[in-house]
Amino acid sequence: MANISINIFYYVALFAIYSFMGWIIEVIYRSITQRKFVNAGFLFGPFIPIYGFGALFIILLQYIFHGWYLVPRLIIFGLALTVIEYMVGYFSEKIFKLTLWDYSEYKFNLHGRVSLLFSIIWAALAFIFITFIHPVVLQNATFLNGAYLQTAAIAFIIYYAVDYAYSVASITEFRQKIAYLYTEYLSLSNVETEKILDSLQRLRYAFPDLNRYINSKISNNIKNRINTFLKSIQDKIIIEMNGRKPFEDEYYEAIQDICEHEEFLKLKEYFHHNSSIYEHVQDVAYFSYRICKFLKLDYRSAARGALLHDFFLYDWRNHDVPDLHRKKFHGIEHPMIALANAKKYFSINEIEEDIIKKHMWPLTLIPPKYKESFIISFADKYLSSKEFINEFKKRRNQRLDIS
Ligand SMILES: [Fe+2]
Ligand SMILES: [Fe+2]
Repeated sequence: MANISINIFYYVALFAIYSFMGWIIEVIYRSITQRKFVNAGFLFGPFIPIYGFGALFIILLQYIFHGWYLVPRLIIFGLALTVIEYMVGYFSEKIFKLTLWDYSEYKFNLHGRVSLLFSIIWAALAFIFITFIHPVVLQNATFLNGAYLQTAAIAFIIYYAVDYAYSVASITEFRQKIAYLYTEYLSLSNVETEKILDSLQRLRYAFPDLNRYINSKISNNIKNRINTFLKSIQDKIIIEMNGRKPFEDEYYEAIQDICEHEEFLKLKEYFHHNSSIYEHVQDVAYFSYRICKFLKLDYRSAARGALLHDFFLYDWRNHDVPDLHRKKFHGIEHPMIALANAKKYFSINEIEEDIIKKHMWPLTLIPPKYKESFIISFADKYLSSKEFINEFKKRRNQRLDIS
């Protein structure tokens, strides 16, 4: 430590080295966990500043506390890095309105920004860093004492300022695009949605927690909008489904071949929630058709996909498989069984396939690719909901009383 001169350029160089090493650590970690190359961090270039700041902080603390015992020193390292992590998390949430990482599922976390487990990891890394890595860097990075240090440091500062400005601008753009997606998701075409998500790909891969947050925000938004809409048309739909008439011609034309198929008619023999599967899929299909028509989506595919979404010919309550909970097994497996049946007897398009495969989302983890699939998954849940069924029965009884 003694030969460290108080030279700003020297520390700038150390900052650059350790930001770069931090980037390498994160790239390896992210690329392994996500099984593809991921450019980690929010900067465009190969630097993650939080590691640079953390390293400089640890060097300073070691300078102050080097005479202390190891355990209190480790606690100081852990605390200091936790404070830095908390502050960076706090400011990125306040300034950029982005949750870049989220520990809220970890035990002993504080606002999801820091957690005990990671604080212990940081303390251990700080120890490894100051004991093994930093001395080797000091020995080998001879340029730290060389004639070009000043030039290199100034070049780095200029580069860093440009990258930082560029990255902040792209994060602002990112936020705007995400806000746009939240509000316009249902009115955007699939191509437009994909285009926007593709343009945001780097940051979404760099911060998987952020990606999860965006997905849940989008789906909540869709859920709210669809629920409001469902409530507003509930009355009309109940009346029409009650009488099962008159089906709009275009609706009937879209589903006729399926409805008349002898294999499909077998669904009448299998019981579902409160009626046969046949009744259930007819309800979901008509309901989804109405919603998709209103939203100007592909209502034809929606009706056909919805009709086939539970195309499984077994009674799931008697269908047991050893070692697997029957209900859970059925919940996860039946979309693929329905899809196999649908493909066997009918020719189905990509949207219909997605509808059948993803209708149990979020139980099946991959989110729907098409808006139509979202609608069917919500319509399915909505029509199975107690509230709706009670209302439905009440109206039917009223109708029977009158007639
Ligand atoms: Fe289902
Ligand atoms: Fe269903």
